Amino acid sequence: MGKVLGSVFQWLRGSTLGSAVRKSLRKGGVVADLAKLPLQGVIDWEFPRSFNIEPTSHCNIACIMCPRERPNKTDGFMDWDLYRKIVDETAKYGPRSITLHKDGEPLMHKRLGEMIEYTKKINPRHKLYISSNGLILKEQHAQAFIKHKLDVFHVSIGAVNPDTYKTVRGGNLEDLEQRVRMLLDMKKAQKSEFPKVAVQIIRMPETVGEVQAFIDKWEPLGVFVTVEDVRHWAGGIEQREGEDPVHVRERHPCHALWFAPSINWDGQVSFCCFDWDSQGVIGDVREKTLAEIWQGERIKWHRDKHLRGEYNYPECANCDHYLDYPDLWFEWQKGTPREGWETDIVAPGMKPRPANQMPKFHITIPTGEEETSTQRRN
Ligand SMILES: C[S@@+](CC[C@H](N)C(=O)[O-])C[C@H]1O[C@@H](n2cnc3c(N)ncnc32)[C@H](O)[C@@H]1O
Ligand code: SF4
Repeated sequence: MGKVLGSVFQWLRGSTLGSAVRKSLRKGGVVADLAKLPLQGVIDWEFPRSFNIEPTSHCNIACIMCPRERPNKTDGFMDWDLYRKIVDETAKYGPRSITLHKDGEPLMHKRLGEMIEYTKKINPRHKLYISSNGLILKEQHAQAFIKHKLDVFHVSIGAVNPDTYKTVRGGNLEDLEQRVRMLLDMKKAQKSEFPKVAVQIIRMPETVGEVQAFIDKWEPLGVFVTVEDVRHWAGGIEQREGEDPVHVRERHPCHALWFAPSINWDGQVSFCCFDWDSQGVIGDVREKTLAEIWQGERIKWHRDKHLRGEYNYPECANCDHYLDYPDLWFEWQKGTPREGWETDIVAPGMKPRPANQMPKFHITIPTGEEETSTQRRN
């Protein structure tokens, strides 16, 4: 049963149809309530069902909307032995959904192809996803993706007009498109269904006029097209004029705490992939197993806070990621905020966040009847 639910969850998380189902669940009502029990049944309390591994936090470009560059943080490449240690641990559990990127550009890791090969050797039913800016995609990458059956290669393209692309991402769009076409041609020549290719555009002031042209350009090529609203990375990037305001209200506990931690290149485990400055660290896989961290005190502290409705602490206060999934919990499973909880804002074993790493803006909580981002997305 757990395996079946696990596959449903992987599908919900990864596919385009799954994203439509998520949207309808977010609308709430009876359907969302009925879904709570099976969705809770998918939680694996022993070992996360899905997680990110960051091959590197380095990047070859600096997109204007990305919070990757941050003070007081060293960038690096994941050590091969550490990668193997993480993947070896998965052998004890069933198939997992593993995303091979977090904040940096995964193609910059020289052993990315071997990472895919090794992971599929440990369990061919593991699902592997990669998001890349695609600018350094080479024939040998494409060959490794096809040969080792990478499940999804997602390219963050983001524009149709080369000048827009230069402004937003800072590279050569024609060159990038040629690289994506090379991968599609190689797949076709080898009659391979792997990897599924997806291309993305982010809706923001510079690109909003190109969204339809982007869809029209890429859909006929048989790739998935994803259109996403610009995110503010829990306050990590400024909200600019012309962008839809981020509205955070009627919060519910965030699914990330039960489903999707991220392992940073250096082995530190963040409870969420939006932890751009590693302030949401719940452990380190160089010192402990991922299972120990997943069952540890720090993650429990965050889960407990969310279940009690205590969201106003630096890692979570400004985030709207919780809106991507419905509330998994019934009211009777939640507590109420404790007296004085506002001062209890640092997880056990963590230092208070340095003042210069506080989120760059604070989301205002609206009070009126205005349209919310939840409504907009529906
Ligand atoms: C941080 S990137 C890392 C992987 C890779 N470098 C890439 O660009 O695909 C992961 C995803 O976040 C997206 N992204 C970056 N900044 C964003 C923002 N402010 N809002 C929404 N998505 C964003 C990227 O387009 C990409 O799809
Ligand atoms: S979105 Fe991706 S490509 Fe752009 S700066 Fe961030 S990590 Fe690099």
